[in-house]
Amino acid sequence: MRLVPFLPRNNVRIRLSEVMSALSYALDLVEGQPEGHSVRACMIGMRLGAAMGLSGSDRSALFYALLMKDLGCSSNAAKMCFLFTADDRATKGDIKTVNWRNPISSLRFAMTHVAPGSPMLVRIKRIIGLAAAGERAGKELIQIRCERGARIARQFGLSDATANAIHALDEHFDGGGHPDGLIGDQIPLLARIMGLAQTAEVFLRQHGLAAMRQMARDRRGTWFDPDLIDRLLAITDADALWGDLYENTAANLAQYEPEEEERFADDQQIDDIAYGFAQVIDAKSPWTFRHSLGVADVAIGIGGVLGLSAAELRNLKRAALLHDVGKLGVSNLILDKPAKLTPEELTEMRKHPDYTYRILRKVAGFSDLAELAASHHERIDGKGYYRGLSGMQLTRDIRILCVSDMYEALAAKRPYREDLNGEQVMAILQKNAPHGICPETLEALVAFSDQGTFKPYQVAA
Ligand SMILES: [Fe+2]
Ligand SMILES: [Fe+2]
Repeated sequence: MRLVPFLPRNNVRIRLSEVMSALSYALDLVEGQPEGHSVRACMIGMRLGAAMGLSGSDRSALFYALLMKDLGCSSNAAKMCFLFTADDRATKGDIKTVNWRNPISSLRFAMTHVAPGSPMLVRIKRIIGLAAAGERAGKELIQIRCERGARIARQFGLSDATANAIHALDEHFDGGGHPDGLIGDQIPLLARIMGLAQTAEVFLRQHGLAAMRQMARDRRGTWFDPDLIDRLLAITDADALWGDLYENTAANLAQYEPEEEERFADDQQIDDIAYGFAQVIDAKSPWTFRHSLGVADVAIGIGGVLGLSAAELRNLKRAALLHDVGKLGVSNLILDKPAKLTPEELTEMRKHPDYTYRILRKVAGFSDLAELAASHHERIDGKGYYRGLSGMQLTRDIRILCVSDMYEALAAKRPYREDLNGEQVMAILQKNAPHGICPETLEALVAFSDQGTFKPYQVAA
């Protein structure tokens, strides 16, 4: 792992923790958690790690594992939405306080969360279907997210200890967890800490300290390591500072990274993170399975035709890879809807560039990147969203990103329309120039497309 500080143009040193905590807010969105859940879970877990006397390198591995614990969570969102016939964010958000190993709690949860708003008969049928899928479906959902999360953590350049902890996040101390049913010390200590820390954060926030302590006692030795529970109870007894978790959350986080292990992201690692996170974004919906990667390929292709420098291409590629990070906050009921969106759904969908901006803007050195990435649905005539920029407010790079996004989206299959061939795609784009999209950029796209190197991803029917 290289530790060369990356100095972008405005001379801001980018701490890896700053990048990871910003992206953890995107993971909170997918999990239906309020902003800062992962960061607060990180602070709780780091207190536990310190109480356990972990070494600096172990605490560093734990720190990043806690921030990135939900890296794989987007990959089961569509399936969760399908199984529950409900907003995946609501299901994921509420399931964190349910003891799903208790049949009565599980049934109660199903009664309130399966196909909400549908006629009773439909809901009963769905609940029976869910019960039939049962344990196997639950294990599969967790397996997908654990494996994917661990793989992407490695792509980010995070350590094996971090990746292994992410993989084992949902194991339970008594062997009743998933995906491998590990028991006791078979579960990496970091994973045991993470599982407890994330549950403690949710109970503490939703129901207060007493409820969190009760949950800890109830799940001692079943879900969680008894030794860790004792440490948690001891900390919560002695430590009056738990309220601080909810004030200046992001600023407070930095003090939890072991000083001697403080890490900075270099250019290559930022590239790797953008590439890895694009896969997290694309995995949210089967219909956009390669969208961000495709938009990046097209943007680089257009940039190459227009003669952009290597540094400009690098920035453009990062923005293209991360442009739809805000879509992690949109329900799969909307993303995967096989019909035209209602005005309300369209309004929800159109919030995603704003989410993109707010997530990326959390990294001080990413201000230009945030502006560019969040502008990918703007139009020359000002009729785009979400800011309604117009004319020269759309910089060269914004124009490239807008055209690339439209091209990839039109060339790929979508649940709400017939497939389009290459000529139809180009005809639609031509119709949108010059009032909507930039004609010179479109010309560059045509030149790139004629090279025949880009093949749009087509989801299996
Ligand atoms: Fe978008
Ligand atoms: Fe997009």
